[in-house]
Amino acid sequence: MDALAPLTRTLTSASAVETFRLGEALGRVLEPRDFVGLDGQLGAGKTSFSRGVAQGAGVPLDDVSSPTYSIVQTYAGRVTLHHADLYRLSTEGDLFGVGYFELLEGDGAMLVEWVSQVPQARPDDALSIRLEVAGPEQRVFHVSATGVRSRALVSRWLGPAAD
Ligand SMILES: Nc1ncnc2c1ncn2[C@@H]1O[C@H](COP(=O)(O)OP(=O)(O)OP(=O)(O)O)[C@@H](O)[C@H]1O
Ligand SMILES: [Mg+2]
Repeated sequence: MDALAPLTRTLTSASAVETFRLGEALGRVLEPRDFVGLDGQLGAGKTSFSRGVAQGAGVPLDDVSSPTYSIVQTYAGRVTLHHADLYRLSTEGDLFGVGYFELLEGDGAMLVEWVSQVPQARPDDALSIRLEVAGPEQRVFHVSATGVRSRALVSRWLGPAAD
């Protein structure tokens, strides 16, 4: 296997609860400096998944909402978790404006909804998940990992690669 090729996985979810549980499993193995970027149309389940991640990371769920309006929220859990939503942003300057790069360079884990809104938002080594709506409750998760750290995260989350 080419060490530089992205690691990809495909998962499915048949309910909002299942999506939350997938997120929770990821949150349980999240470590400082991990980066998780989410994309998918309105209502795909990015926030449902993110709430699961937060719960798995030991963040009280009452603290977690969609940060669409605040852009980024920081939660204290087993790991510090920065939860961003870039839906309303479009340029790298917007990211500087909210202190995004300081967070990226810090020790917290990052969970970023609508990450593809701003190309500079995603570090080279990132776990990216695109949620595709495949039916009223069906979702397909297209997972890719582009570096050593994110590949290790996928292995902790889903087990060793079969491919
Ligand atoms: N398999 C599923 N996974 C996730 N959500 C599902 C699923 N099936 C149905 N849903 C419903 O889809 C909606 C997902 O909403 P959520 O806020 O998580 O999406 P989002 O991607 O964050 O949307 P937005 O971009 O508008 O913030 C919820 O109403 C949820 O109940
Ligand atoms: Mg959302």
